[in-house]
Amino acid sequence: MSNAELIALAEKHVAPTYGRYPVAFVRGEGCRVWDADGKEYLDFMSGIAVCNLGHSHPALVSAVQEQAGRIMHLSNFYHIEPQIRLAEKLTANSFGDKVFFCNTGTEACEGAIKLARKYSAKKYGEGRHEILTFEMSFHGRTMASLSATAQEKFHKGFEPLLSGFRYLPFDDVESVAAAVSDKTCAILVEPIQGEGGVRVPSPEYLRGLREICDANDLLLMFDEVQVGVGRTGKLWGHEHFDVTPDVMALAKGLGGGAAVGAIVATDKAMAFEKGDHGSTFGGNYIATAAGCAVIDTVLGPGFLDRVADTGDHLFAGLNELAGRHPIVKEVRGKGLIAGIELDREAGPLALKALEAGFLIITAVPTVLRILPPLVVEKDMIDKLLEFLDGALKELAA
Ligand SMILES: Cc1ncc(COP(=O)(O)O)c(C=O)c1O
Repeated sequence: MSNAELIALAEKHVAPTYGRYPVAFVRGEGCRVWDADGKEYLDFMSGIAVCNLGHSHPALVSAVQEQAGRIMHLSNFYHIEPQIRLAEKLTANSFGDKVFFCNTGTEACEGAIKLARKYSAKKYGEGRHEILTFEMSFHGRTMASLSATAQEKFHKGFEPLLSGFRYLPFDDVESVAAAVSDKTCAILVEPIQGEGGVRVPSPEYLRGLREICDANDLLLMFDEVQVGVGRTGKLWGHEHFDVTPDVMALAKGLGGGAAVGAIVATDKAMAFEKGDHGSTFGGNYIATAAGCAVIDTVLGPGFLDRVADTGDHLFAGLNELAGRHPIVKEVRGKGLIAGIELDREAGPLALKALEAGFLIITAVPTVLRILPPLVVEKDMIDKLLEFLDGALKELAA
């Protein structure tokens, strides 16, 4: 079927929840994808930071194929071999001791919220359940994660939200110190905000939050759903800030395209007991076999160094463009997550990119977001930069 035929069918049968670009993709290889009409594109959005190994990566494909041929799903009523292996890899390569598996980012944050409440209820009893979150954050669309998300535009029509969240300015330690009370149990924060416009906090910010948590026995919970698993050139985004949390939410890149989410926690913070939380699909055979292949590849020789190096190349190019195009207000990010803030709406530029064969998306309306697969080549980045150069000129005219 062609793009047009697929879109006509979608309009008839698929819920209209997404503002979709008018194209249906049917195949991908590395950083290239093809639509139903056979047109080729370079992918600079990676399924929103999911396809970190690129498309059809041989290690990921063979892990999923091999697992599908053996056993796809049974239940968390029993032990699950690739789930155990993935938990071992995640804890061996992080601050964490224990992992709870779910399927998506919103579930990972939702679970982390429950975990913080449980930790505090067990130790301090009822009433100490407030979680501090930050303006322009994004933690997902289910009710607790949505309530933690301090962006009004996502709340409209879904009130009343869950109580027990307090929103504070991002990158401002003093306001956090002032907000902690005998009701507070945790801080939930993205080490680098993604959906909120790719915002990197000052170097000392997360360490300041760590100190506040230590002084008040609060759980420090990092939402690494978008920036974890190598996106920034280090395995975890927080490694750039010389700080460790008590709890970390993961999803997106962890499965490289398979739906897998995780809550990684220290033994102290893993307050869940038998029956406290669960998921039918969470950590099933396919998802965690994919996760194992992703982690092994990302931790393979030279992989993360290469991400840092191609990231430097991307930022050198973007900063050079920013110097020549006054409509670019700021370039932000780390490694292979970049936000380009314009002095106007960025949507028309993303659409123009699609027509020219580049997949890029926006974060907030004025910010273009660039999230290539972590295996992107420098010459692909150069092609994107050349396109942006012309498109920015045209947009300004
Ligand atoms: C930081 C962060 N947390 C949570 C989520 C929600 O993830 P999901 O869409 O898998 O539920 C996202 C999605 O963009 C995210 O960027």
